[in-house]
Amino acid sequence: MPGNSFGKMFRITTFGESHGPVVGVVVDGVPAGLQLSKEDIEFELSFRKPGKSFVSERKEIDEPEILSGIYKGRTTGAPVAIVVRNTDVDSSSYEEIRYKPRPGHADLAYIKKYGYENWDYRGGGRSSARETVSRVAASALAKKLLMLTNTWIAGHLISLGPIELNCNVSFEEILCSKYSPLRCSKKDFEEKFKELVKDTLAEGNSYGGIVEVVAVNPPAGLGEPVFDKIKADLAKAIMSIPAVVGFEYGLGFKATKMKGSEVNDEIIKKGNSIGFKYNTSGGILGGITTGEPIVVRCAFKPTSSIRIPSKTVNLRTNEDTLISVKGRHDPAVAVRGVSVVEAMMSLVLVDHAIRAGIVPSVKLNNKDSEKIEKNWRRYISSCKP
Ligand SMILES: Cc1cc2nc3c(=O)[nH]c(=O)nc-3n(C[C@H](O)[C@H](O)[C@H](O)COP(=O)(O)O)c2cc1C
Repeated sequence: MPGNSFGKMFRITTFGESHGPVVGVVVDGVPAGLQLSKEDIEFELSFRKPGKSFVSERKEIDEPEILSGIYKGRTTGAPVAIVVRNTDVDSSSYEEIRYKPRPGHADLAYIKKYGYENWDYRGGGRSSARETVSRVAASALAKKLLMLTNTWIAGHLISLGPIELNCNVSFEEILCSKYSPLRCSKKDFEEKFKELVKDTLAEGNSYGGIVEVVAVNPPAGLGEPVFDKIKADLAKAIMSIPAVVGFEYGLGFKATKMKGSEVNDEIIKKGNSIGFKYNTSGGILGGITTGEPIVVRCAFKPTSSIRIPSKTVNLRTNEDTLISVKGRHDPAVAVRGVSVVEAMMSLVLVDHAIRAGIVPSVKLNNKDSEKIEKNWRRYISSCKP
């Protein structure tokens, strides 16, 4: 079975390579009646876009084209196909990589699997994170549908290399981090992150980081026992992001160092409902959402393409050699990774919301469609600098 599709009821299939003509996505399972514009998709793409300070210098316009599934500005229930043209392709710096697989990147693994003669070395081909444009484009639809339950998703960078954000942050601050060049929710930490990235760039090196993403107002009851638990699907979705090396939710690995009495969350009355006092489980128990905010974190390794020379083997001569990767690379992939983690979370939640019958699978009525549009307008106008 190939692995280019994700989701059961809300299903995406991505296609395209880093230096091919386009990257794109087909989204199947979108109910009819969702208002959708190119600008909605562009809005989400703008936060993952390269060509800004502190990220890859590749200058992509990232303008989406909707090819199908829309009539008079609304989805029809047919598959929605979206493409984004690759406009700033420069394969010249990849000539060296053609014979020298990069340590830490997918090059040698792809060569071993598909054969050297079939390997698209230009820009990393399908292994390039350019593919994640497709996921973020699809997430505009998923995030919009989640507006039906007023579920908002936002992420930020909570550590970069050795620097860790060590204070409480509100959801509002996390949401507004999308306008921070380093996806930082606190101004003083943003300055520290900036210094670190400048230093690592000057050295020709890179750093990893931890991304935290929160969904507020999620419906309770998402997740299907026993293999499609929400934690299992979130882990798979997020671990499928290039350069992600670890996943946790709630207290995560910290829980191993605590006592049961500290980890167990107290059950309390909350108005007319019953909930949890501290949300130590990150909104998930038994693999099912509890209705508390869903909190996930994932670790991104440092960018593998660095100027500091490292050992590799020249595939033409079979001799040991060194590679120093030039070209346009992210000094810390975790920064642009934030919007990709948000996207994957939205895809999982909407898929499960449709499976649970919370978001209709076939058609939205006018009232629902208006509600979504109203919440979406609030979402896109929030935090505007
Ligand atoms: C948003 C984003 C941007 C990335 N940019 C780069 C990059 O500029 N250079 C690079 O070598 N890797 C980059 N990566 C990571 C590689 O795509 C990834 O390390 C590679 O595909 C190997 O996969 P693995 O690290 O999951 O094993 C990026 C990842 C993400 C999520």
